[in-house]
Amino acid sequence: MKKNKALRLEDYRPASYLVDSVDLRFELDPAATLVRATLAMRRNPEADAKEDQLILNGKHLDLRSIRLDERELDTDHFQVDDEHLVIEGVPQAFTLETEVIIHPEKNTALEGLYLSGGNFCTQCEPEGFRRITYFPDRPDVMATYRVTLVAQREQFPVLLSNGNLVAHGDLDAGRHFAEWEDPFRKPSYLFALVGGKLSCLEDSYTTASGRSITLQVYADARHLGQCAHAMKSLKQAMRWDEQRFGLECDLNQYMIVAADDFNMGAMENKGLNIFNSKYVLAASETATDADFQNITSVIGHEYFHNWTGNRVTCRDWFQLSLKEGLTVFRDQEFSADMTARPIQRISDARIIRGPQFAEDAGPMAHPVRPRSYVEINNFYTLTVYNKGAEVSRMIHTLLGEKAFRGGMDLYFQRHDGQAVTTEDFVRAMEDASGIDLSQFRLWYEQAGTPEVQVERHYDAEQKRYCLTFTQSCPPTPGQPRKEPFHIPIAVGLLDRKGRSMHLQLEGESRAKETRDRVLSLTRTRQTFEFVDVKQEPVPSLLRGFSAPVKMKCDYADEELAFLAGHDEDEFNRWDAGQQLAVRILLRLVDDLREGRPLHADNRLSDALRDTLENPHLDRAFKAQCLILPDENYLADQMDVADPSAIHHARQWLREHLAADLRKTFLNTWQDNLEADPKQVDAATVGRRSLKNACLSYLSLLDEEIFIELCANQAQLAHNMTDVLAALGILTHRDSPQREEQIAAFYRQWKSEPLVIDKWLSLQAQSSLPQTPEIVESLLQHEAFNIKNPNRVRALIGAFCQGNPYHFHAEDGRGYAFLADRILEIDSFNPQVAARLTTPLGRWRRYDPKRQQMMKAQLERIAAREDLSRDVGEIVEKSLA
Ligand code: ARG
Ligand code: ZN
Repeated sequence: MKKNKALRLEDYRPASYLVDSVDLRFELDPAATLVRATLAMRRNPEADAKEDQLILNGKHLDLRSIRLDERELDTDHFQVDDEHLVIEGVPQAFTLETEVIIHPEKNTALEGLYLSGGNFCTQCEPEGFRRITYFPDRPDVMATYRVTLVAQREQFPVLLSNGNLVAHGDLDAGRHFAEWEDPFRKPSYLFALVGGKLSCLEDSYTTASGRSITLQVYADARHLGQCAHAMKSLKQAMRWDEQRFGLECDLNQYMIVAADDFNMGAMENKGLNIFNSKYVLAASETATDADFQNITSVIGHEYFHNWTGNRVTCRDWFQLSLKEGLTVFRDQEFSADMTARPIQRISDARIIRGPQFAEDAGPMAHPVRPRSYVEINNFYTLTVYNKGAEVSRMIHTLLGEKAFRGGMDLYFQRHDGQAVTTEDFVRAMEDASGIDLSQFRLWYEQAGTPEVQVERHYDAEQKRYCLTFTQSCPPTPGQPRKEPFHIPIAVGLLDRKGRSMHLQLEGESRAKETRDRVLSLTRTRQTFEFVDVKQEPVPSLLRGFSAPVKMKCDYADEELAFLAGHDEDEFNRWDAGQQLAVRILLRLVDDLREGRPLHADNRLSDALRDTLENPHLDRAFKAQCLILPDENYLADQMDVADPSAIHHARQWLREHLAADLRKTFLNTWQDNLEADPKQVDAATVGRRSLKNACLSYLSLLDEEIFIELCANQAQLAHNMTDVLAALGILTHRDSPQREEQIAAFYRQWKSEPLVIDKWLSLQAQSSLPQTPEIVESLLQHEAFNIKNPNRVRALIGAFCQGNPYHFHAEDGRGYAFLADRILEIDSFNPQVAARLTTPLGRWRRYDPKRQQMMKAQLERIAAREDLSRDVGEIVEKSLA
């Protein structure tokens, strides 16, 4: 493996030359596309060195000609290598024209210009534009773009790019053209083009100030009927951003295109978002309720980027979280307003406490604003996105809604049209609020998950109650020691009846009633003393998951059960139940490992029964409470993870709960059967989630009737959530019903790849002993295509990340299987291959035998001659 050099934040220098405007002409041809770029360039007055050498990025380009101020350059005036074009002796201001040939048909990496389902599309963020033409491909070089697309009309009737269509018409030889002009200056990563046979759902939106915007969602003709939810989500997002942040859409035309081959989720190209079709297409027969919700949040996310990302962009890629963290925070807030806030918060927290905490504890741990990287594509991470969102959220918590809004307003006032840094964002927040965030900035700079230990003390005589917090943060690569963080801890104190008590800190006057407040933990160890506390309370800590930390409190099991039954903060109510379940499960794991008989603990059954029977709680919330912590999360709570014991303990507890709560589950299931299959409103979704959660427990009882029920539901339901819930139960049962339903599902849906992805995943996640063989054989199935990232994630991703029990099989074949696939995929799509590597990087979390086998596979990958920079970086860091 060749070692690749790391780029460092401290080496940032302004670009030597800027581009004012770009004129692009594409003669689109799948085999060989001609790209002519005309760049109006000038020296950057801000650049330090006064050299006259121009360096442009360019990758896999066949250079045909270069003209500088209309004069053809001959070969001794420039040099070309794999990644650059260097021109010596350029003037202060000049026009550069290049012609290159690129090969979209051969582009399997899905970066730059490529073909998906016969249509042209692009993905330029972060560094794909350099695969299209020679350019200073960095986000701080912003220009206006005029784009002419030429193609065969028959084959490519639709030709789209950013901005407004200014001309179109026919040309000779069956060709036609379209000319687009984007009036907003933008970095190259926001460039996009689309060309092909696409149909379009059109609508319009009138902004708060009365401007009418044309909205278009493009997909292939047969999927046009599945675009309505995306369109509705887009309009909701536009309204929401006006109301919550006073931000209006600045375009005349807003386009969304669904592509079947897409490395990531979606892309916010100015005025022309390109989406993974998974986040556009939905009908209740083909998509689950979760799919509908994901579409709303991703549509929102890309739309919100129009301000947080496009109007104000990033100076360099170290600042990625400036746009991503903030935009995820915005899409989470949007989703919370569209559905139910506590449910949204539970799902945000699951991501942080599960895979994000694992990332923080692993070999790729990095700060929200990384200090160095080898391959920037490896840093589109849960840390940059989701922990970044938590950092924005904490600022919101510390400032309050009004001051936060003031900070956003100031940020746009100062930086509209600029490429800036996270520091600029924090300073706007500080200046608008007057609140000092100097210590808070460490959240951007220090990696790792802080741990907060709580001690409590009640003085019955003085009626005083003390909470003492001690914080620490484990070392991460390159950061052996950490400074204390500024951690907002939302707390409440519950009295014996479960009511929140008044909260008054020592030294405060009893000015106003507060039953919920945010404590600022800033020191390593800090005590908060509450006065006038009439009885010893049970503390409710980190309400609403107010900071991305591990909070450790020595609650008795009874206290957790009490919080699960009473906390006014719904998030903490859910969390207390989860904490109780984790404890019980870890005890069961110990018992299993020691060969002791397993014992039931009734506290969890009692708490769940109370929850299910409580008429004041929302159905979707109840369903969340029924989901036990997953196997990966449990593994993270152990010193040495034992995937097999975890799996069996969790299964045992689920069976035990099913038996204990049979009557309650049955009643709840029956009470919620009437969930209209066509509706996806929050109330119906809640019903569906609750009845299916109950059914999954009931199916664990030794009663054939429930298996029959599942088979019927899989066969007859007209709603994908219901069908999949039933199949998801059957997939773990070795039964004729399983085989029948899996086969029938395939017959019904084989022409809908997004539905077949669900079919692949549920087989990959089965706990049946034959699963590894089934997964191997599915690689050969006609429905599988290793070149398509969605198929890869659905089968290989689901098995290696979503089935820890089989992936970590004692004989190591799961590891070998994954390494084989990584090597195979790396040869044509490094980004997708790199993302698959994560589970192997976690080897330190397992026993010596597994460690050795996982490392052996990483070393095998590392030994590959022409490994990509993407996989190389992760493997190298994993073995370091
Ligand atoms: N900016 C896009 C989004 O989060 C993600 C693009 C990432 N693409 C990539 N190849 N890393 O909305
Ligand atoms: Zn984004």
